[in-house]
Amino acid sequence: MTEEINRYRDAWDSYWKDIANVSGEAFWDCPAEESAALDLPRFVGFMPPGLPLVDFGCGNGTLTRFLANHFDRVIGVDISAEAITGARQTTSQKNVSYEVLDALNPGEAEALHAKVGDCNLYVRTVLHQLKPPDWPRMVESLEILLGETGCMYMVELAPSAETYFKSLAEKTGGGFPPKLARVFRFGITPAELKDGDIVAQFPGDRFELQSTGNTVINTTQNLPTGERVRVPAEYWVITRRAAAKAV
Ligand SMILES: C[S@@+](CC[C@H](N)C(=O)[O-])C[C@H]1O[C@@H](n2cnc3c(N)ncnc32)[C@H](O)[C@@H]1O
Repeated sequence: MTEEINRYRDAWDSYWKDIANVSGEAFWDCPAEESAALDLPRFVGFMPPGLPLVDFGCGNGTLTRFLANHFDRVIGVDISAEAITGARQTTSQKNVSYEVLDALNPGEAEALHAKVGDCNLYVRTVLHQLKPPDWPRMVESLEILLGETGCMYMVELAPSAETYFKSLAEKTGGGFPPKLARVFRFGITPAELKDGDIVAQFPGDRFELQSTGNTVINTTQNLPTGERVRVPAEYWVITRRAAAKAV
């Protein structure tokens, strides 16, 4: 395990430590009606029924709990043991379980796949939390979990998010709004996504793009103007390419 991987775990454990069992404290932790419920119609028809759904990078489990109302079995996974503890404390549904899993350690995805088989995946705003050189390893983990038959929905910040974040400083009178500033305080440094970055991670010889479109990431942060922070985003529905499935 590299120093960098430990840095992610330490940063996210410190971030989640005091807020993992409360709703709405994290910048992105809006009610599911404003996030996963808007996502659901974009991917549910593509996902083979009967496979477990993995909420990959589930944080405190807000969306895992919502997804469990729509899938037979949901597994929330996250690098942060603090997040997973909070998610367990606040979940009572019998069809939900949680595991600590590091996206950068494909062996952990192998172990989960060996236990539960092919999975559908829900991945909201996780990849951009990693530095670009680490993206291929996360994709490797996702590919292992998809197996031959799974389908993934990924939603990520759009390239225009960067300009949008800079504009927030003007609206707050300088500085980032408090819930976003809190993320940076723990040494979490999200990557900037450029046009085509995500699609480039899922090359056509291994993956098939089923659907894509524009959306927003609704947040829990209001500006002094009363305006809610809504970050420009994009989504992709992706499966394994048939020819790559035996690999
Ligand atoms: C921006 S939050 C999104 C949480 C959740 N998906 C949501 O939308 O509410 C990013 C999440 O990714 C997790 N994460 C960061 N690096 C990770 C890694 N290497 N492996 C697994 N999870 C990771 C963090 O702990 C955090 O919960």
